[in-house]
Amino acid sequence: MARGREGEVRNLVLGKYELGRMLGQGSFAKVYYGRDLRDGQSVAIKVIDKAHLRQTDGMVEQLRREISIMRMVRHPNVVGIREVLASRQRVFVVMEYARGGELFAKVARGRLTEDAARKYFQQLVAAVAFCHSRGVAHRDLKPENLLLDEEGRLKVTDFGLAALPEQLRHDGLLHTQCGTPAYVAPEVLRKRGYDGARADMWSCGVVLYVLLCGFLPFQHDNYVKMYQKIFKGEYQMPPWVSGEARRLIGRLLAVDPAKRISIPEIMLTPWFKRGFVPPVPSSPVTPRKWDDDNAAALIDGSEDSSGNISPRTCNAFQLISSMSSGFDLSGLFESEQKAATVFTSRAPAATVFHKLESAGKALRYNTTRGKGWRIRMEAKADGANGRLAVTAEVFEVAADVTVVEFAHDGGDALDFNKFCAEDVRPGLADIVWAWQGDVPGLPGAVA
Ligand code: ADE
Repeated sequence: MARGREGEVRNLVLGKYELGRMLGQGSFAKVYYGRDLRDGQSVAIKVIDKAHLRQTDGMVEQLRREISIMRMVRHPNVVGIREVLASRQRVFVVMEYARGGELFAKVARGRLTEDAARKYFQQLVAAVAFCHSRGVAHRDLKPENLLLDEEGRLKVTDFGLAALPEQLRHDGLLHTQCGTPAYVAPEVLRKRGYDGARADMWSCGVVLYVLLCGFLPFQHDNYVKMYQKIFKGEYQMPPWVSGEARRLIGRLLAVDPAKRISIPEIMLTPWFKRGFVPPVPSSPVTPRKWDDDNAAALIDGSEDSSGNISPRTCNAFQLISSMSSGFDLSGLFESEQKAATVFTSRAPAATVFHKLESAGKALRYNTTRGKGWRIRMEAKADGANGRLAVTAEVFEVAADVTVVEFAHDGGDALDFNKFCAEDVRPGLADIVWAWQGDVPGLPGAVA
């Protein structure tokens, strides 16, 4: 507590934010309204008690994952993360404030018109497509986790249950049962492993149904009966829902995940396409310094994260955390870089390394292995300004997340840009997950 100029008691977060009313509460965290004392901007602050967090197995890891995921999925329809702060006892996740509150509150007042429901559904699908393109399954999509900003734009929040590819078991599936029963796909309830992205599509189907109908498709006072309905995909469709919307819901609520409609298929339906304007991804945020966002250290208990960390010694968490504004990793590598000199891959580092070597050879470059996971490629003929030389460095971020940085090591800068933007790409196409600056998942993007 602190006293302001007029003597009133103010609840401050590390002298930077003023805390206001509580916006929501979960089992491990409370979300408060906050105001940035520097610029007066409204924020939402998730406050987590460290001691409480440590009492439950896996919760520290889950919070780390939630933070890294939020930083990876910067999108106009996803609540953005601003920074992570910590005191000795608490972690504060400072997020964008969605002034319009929960979409749930709107539906609770009555079902929406088909046009209004479509508008929200389009934004939900755009956000989910972006998350999936980053390898993130949300796993708890429901109207309570869909917020609205002051312009009525939908913002997906609460990645507390979201999963990264690193959680996949050897069968390539997720096995943790989570989510809110009424919105959970049958294969998740069956506990035999599921594909997180397909399970999210089921939840999108339930959300669309709720928006159009004003009530849940699978509902029963008795959980067993509710589960039975979910397993059978048994629901009633009220007469006011149009044929097109009914068919789309039917394809989303397909019990067999292999038969469930995918995002690209949804985007091709005339019902979805009506008035759809693909959101433009957030403009790149100025990369923060490493020490601003070293959330791992913050959660682990050090009071703050002062001290610059050398990019070469960053751990997996720090790397993932830095993936702000669509894999804009420029904050990670000290030199000033143009876009698209960094890409991520889900292949193991060794595979990526060998692929780089063969891509260089296919371009008829001299390739030499350097220290660690470095490879130098040099053109055999002079370009506009001498012989182009490029170094590629491979970083192993997590079990199945690899990051590659290309650096200009000789020759003309324009030749280097062309090398990264065009020449090397075909040889790497089957291992690239996303190029920094590209927006996978949206029509026209390079996946
Ligand atoms: N409730 C939970 N998170 C919120 C946010 N980011 N904005 C507004 N209300 C919220």
